[in-house]
Amino acid sequence: MGNAKLISLLNQKGGVGKTTSSVSISSALSMKGYKVLLVDLDAQCNATTSLGVLEPDTTVYSILKGQSKLDLHPVTENLFLLPASNDLAAFDLEMSAEPGKEYLLKELLEPIDKHFDYIIIDCSPTLGLLTLNALTASNYFICPVLPHHLSIAGMSKLMEVTDKVQRRLNPKLTLGGIILSQFNSRKILHQDTANVIKAHFGDKLFNSVIRENISLAEAPSSGKSIFEYAPQANGAVDYMQLTKEILKKL
Ligand SMILES: Nc1ncnc2c1ncn2[C@@H]1O[C@H](COP(=O)(O)OP(=O)(O)O)[C@@H](O)[C@H]1O
Ligand SMILES: [Mg+2]
Repeated sequence: MGNAKLISLLNQKGGVGKTTSSVSISSALSMKGYKVLLVDLDAQCNATTSLGVLEPDTTVYSILKGQSKLDLHPVTENLFLLPASNDLAAFDLEMSAEPGKEYLLKELLEPIDKHFDYIIIDCSPTLGLLTLNALTASNYFICPVLPHHLSIAGMSKLMEVTDKVQRRLNPKLTLGGIILSQFNSRKILHQDTANVIKAHFGDKLFNSVIRENISLAEAPSSGKSIFEYAPQANGAVDYMQLTKEILKKL
């Protein structure tokens, strides 16, 4: 334990699997015995509700604004959540004049990172101030992408931003990998796009692909991770495999 690795799940597109990946990878790591903190940094609160946390007392918003003391929500023995709330939507505007505004999350996490092996940050589908805070605090960013051409089109914009963050705010920020999500090997388009991504990103594309799996879409409304909701499902198998790859590579 100690000096956690911080990993942001990042993509400015919505619906690509950031939240599903954040929740599933956090759960898998915690099941393997690692101490994990999942930070929900999206005003839509999907990671928070996916874990069955509906009305948390303290949220990352109030803590970042200095209105409450740090209070982590225990989910299981090894998994803790820093929940989101709708008011995060106002964060970018409200903090626009704050000195060092990109460093607020880093400052918040620094005193507690020794208690965790991994801190996983579920980003919102924007490249705004909250996401800059996530990247400034992180060692790695991992991008889930869908196997469509349009999905890859946003990647160069994303890399421009992460390059700037690396130059100006956080020299240790590294691309941890690309996750191909909602993959269906019978679709030629999916195969084609997988090849394009592989050609572009090489071994940064994780070998473990996440298949299209209905259980992954159902699990959030049960308030349980895929490993509790449907432990035999492809989604559980794929995310466990991916987590092993992350443990090996990062
Ligand atoms: N591998 C998958 N197979 C089927 N549905 C998925 C899969 N991954 C995610 N989903 C569903 O797709 C939607 C978008 O995923 P989500 O993780 O919320 O994306 P993001 O956080 O990037 O917006 C959600 O309804 C989710 O349950
Ligand atoms: Mg999300």
